[in-house]
Amino acid sequence: MTQPLRMILIGPPGAGKGTQARLLTEKHNVVAISTGDLFRARVKDPNDPLGGEIRQILDAGKLVPDEITIRMISERLDQPDCKNGFILDGFPRSVAQAEALEKMLKEKGIKLDAVVQMEVDDDKLVERISGRFTCGKCGEGYHDKFKPPHDPAACDSCGAEDSFTRRSDDNAETVRSRLETYHSQTAPILPFYERLGMLKTVDGMAEMAAVTAQIEAVLCPNKGCDKIQPPKMG
Ligand code: AP5
Ligand code: MG
Ligand code: ZN
Repeated sequence: MTQPLRMILIGPPGAGKGTQARLLTEKHNVVAISTGDLFRARVKDPNDPLGGEIRQILDAGKLVPDEITIRMISERLDQPDCKNGFILDGFPRSVAQAEALEKMLKEKGIKLDAVVQMEVDDDKLVERISGRFTCGKCGEGYHDKFKPPHDPAACDSCGAEDSFTRRSDDNAETVRSRLETYHSQTAPILPFYERLGMLKTVDGMAEMAAVTAQIEAVLCPNKGCDKIQPPKMG
């Protein structure tokens, strides 16, 4: 029987966390949870009392307070769609979040399979972020140079027309701040997971499909491993 897959993707802004989470979700029937996406949804929600505050933090490239983020993830992991496993994209992002996640998973009786770090040079990150856009309807991600849609005005995935959007935190100033935040607050979680013997590193500079293959190899180093579900047919 296939075992649920539970993993964390860690990487700087633009490393390809969202891209890989989406590819792995589609291929292996596991849910992807992006704290960035959850926060952007809250910003759009006129009934969210913290929406305005979260928008200011996102646009400054800082971290949303740990307390809010940790509670949001704990509630998300209790949803039924996480039973079959999950990929965390963008959480944890501080040592306090990593410690809280360890405690939370113990309490929920969940064991992580892997913590995967995606390494990409800072110069490349800026190029990736400045060319990125997303389908506002289905969330499919694109890039002006690395992944243009076949029809420049329509989404390959859902066919929506004129629905492409660019993120408000993808401007040069905020990207600089997001990179600084990554190096000062998020990178310190790498030694935390190294000490736990869980950290695996992949080369995020490679082409998208090659990065996916590296992650799959890390998850299933042995043939016949039951962590990776066969691709869905059809
Ligand atoms: P979040 O949404 O997580 O942003 P991020 O970490 O800055 O990462 P990105 O989404 O920008 O990049 P990505 O790694 O997903 O790259 P992508 O796949 O799109 O967080 C946003 C904000 O929310 C934070 O700044 C913070 O304020 C807040 N937040 C989130 N989590 C938080 C937490 N835990 N605690 C507190 N605050 C939190 O790829 C980028 C582009 O490159 C795309 O165009 C893609 O097509 C292209 N690309 C991808 N892979 C490749 C490849 N291999 N080759 C060529 N091009 C590629
Ligand atoms: Mg992302
Ligand atoms: Zn779409």
